[in-house]
Amino acid sequence: MRTLLTLPLLFCLAASANAADLFAKGDAKIGKTLHDKSCVSCHTSMVGGDGTAVYNRMERKIKTPQKLQAQISGCNANAGAGWFPEDELHVGAYLNKQFYHFK
Ligand code: HEC
Repeated sequence: MRTLLTLPLLFCLAASANAADLFAKGDAKIGKTLHDKSCVSCHTSMVGGDGTAVYNRMERKIKTPQKLQAQISGCNANAGAGWFPEDELHVGAYLNKQFYHFK
């Protein structure tokens, strides 16, 4: 029973270490520039405004830093932005800081 209770806690701790690790090397400022250049138009046509509502929508699908990273990679490929992995980290750092707040 004890292990059953501590397991979710361990997961949370693991997730928190991961978010910090994952985006630690990213620079949110560079990320914002990259993001605003390549990522806004499509999201804007989806949700209107400045497109950032896609990150705040109620039914948003991104619940972990890993998923966020994967979505950035996928959208990077879709957008043909041609980013390097470190660029994706910059954008991850920006989106996490601004919208997702994974710890
Ligand atoms: C070709 C259109 C298009 C472009 C360009 C695009 N996206 Fe997206 N993006 C989408 C769509 C469509 C979704 C919603 C996907 C879904 O609902 O599963 C999405 C969703 C996302 C989400 C998840 C939002 C949530 O639910 O929390 C992230 C993060 C994201 N995009 C990042 C990016 C980044 C970073 C870029 C720039 C490289 C980018 N997108 C460029 C179409 C695009």
